Formats: sequence, structure tokens, C-alpha cells
Amino acid sequence: MNVVIAFGGSLIDFDKDYFQKFKRMIEEISKEHRLFIVVGGGRVAREYIRFGREMNLSEEELDEIGIEATRLNARLISHILKANREIPKTTDEARNVKSKIVVMGGTTPGHSTDAVAAELAEKIDADLLVIATDVDGIYDKDPKKYQDAKLFREISIDKLIEMCGTEWKRAGESVAIDGPALKIAKRSRYDIIVVNGKKLDNLKRALLKEDFIGTKIKREG
Ligand code: UTP
Repeated sequence: MNVVIAFGGSLIDFDKDYFQKFKRMIEEISKEHRLFIVVGGGRVAREYIRFGREMNLSEEELDEIGIEATRLNARLISHILKANREIPKTTDEARNVKSKIVVMGGTTPGHSTDAVAAELAEKIDADLLVIATDVDGIYDKDPKKYQDAKLFREISIDKLIEMCGTEWKRAGESVAIDGPALKIAKRSRYDIIVVNGKKLDNLKRALLKEDFIGTKIKREG
């Protein structure tokens, strides 16, 4: 299988034990499958964007700063995984990298790394796009704010578009799935799931298309 992982920047919290296990898991899966990992900007991106906004930088400039943060995180992950040394700047570049594990960050302003992952999945004709985040999947409301938030085990793209729209909000903004990513996903064919990337056993099951806890995104209904 060709699998793309959108690895949320919130998963990068400098936890040595987590990344040692993550590395072992990715190495094992990459023996059988080709893995592309698109890394988000996380804390670094948010801090820089917050300060840049205070200094009145334009939205495009803030996105550019966010992109640098995603590439810094991507470099960290690619070195940890002993994957590609140079970080591809476009999805076309990523498609042409020969290594079994390919790691990249953002590309251009106007969307998040979710959209980069959706576009890459389309380009490489992926079987599966796994969006790995720091909660268990997609909820009816923010699970970090509301204790009674309900996890969707399945949700249609149209319903998600109703909830999140297809527009890019603004630099550093966090929604369940970025609008531009939904737009690309709607016209594509690969399976899409959202899972908690902190729970590695579950992430592994999701990557292997086994039973997992999370949200499966359906194209119709
Ligand atoms: P992300 O939004 O992808 O990082 O990029 P994140 O916050 O870690 O992602 P999630 O929510 O966990 O998935 C950080 C910022 O970088 C800019 C945007 O401003 C984005 O909010 N960016 C990133 C781009 O403009 N283009 C890209 O291709 C990627």
C-alpha cells in the first residue's frame, strides 16, 4: 500500500519514549508499505504566528512562517526516521523521492499540512490517508473544551464541509480538518481516517487498515 500520514504538529512534544516507539513502528510498517509523512507546525508555528500577527505581518507572511516551522519539524522527524535528508518543498518533489519513507512539511500559503497530505495522496494514488492528531478523531464539538463532546465513528465529507467549510481560515488556525483539504478529499478516491497519533498501537492498526478507534470519513451519505 501507499499510505500518507498527516502528522499533526501537536504530536511533537519532545517525548523520547514516544518517538523511539514511533520510529520502531514506522520502520516495521515500511517493510511492507510505502509511507509518506507530512508534518505539521505545532507549537513552534503557533508561537511564531502569534507574535508575527502582533507585529502586523500579513496573512501570507504568517503562512510563510508557519511553513518554515512545518519544515523544521519535518527535518527533525526525517532525521529520527533516517528517511530523506532533504525536505521536499512540493508534493511533486515528494513523489519523486526514492526512499521508502518520505517526510515533508508545508508547501505554499493558504492551507494547512492536512491539505498538503490530501494533495500528495492524490498525486501518488494512495490507498489511505491517515490524519494523526492529538484527540481520538472528529467530534461534534471541541473535546478539549467540552467533556460531553461525541466522537463520530463515521462522518461524510459533505457533513464535514458543512461543519468546517472549504475555505482557508487564517494562519495558525486549528479546525478538525482544514477546508482546502476537504475540497481535495471530496474529489479523490483513497480512504481517509482520523486517529489519535499519541496512541501508537491504535495508530498502527489504522495504518494497516485493521480495526481502530477513530473516525472514518465517507464520501457519500
Ligand atoms: P499546520 O496547520 O499544518 O500545522 O501548519 P499544525 O497546526 O501543527 O497542524 P495540525 O492542526 O496539528 O494538523 C501551521 C501553519 O503553517 C501554515 C499555515 O499558516 C498553518 O496554519 N502553512 C502550513 C501553510 O501556509 N501552508 C502549508 O502548506 C502548510
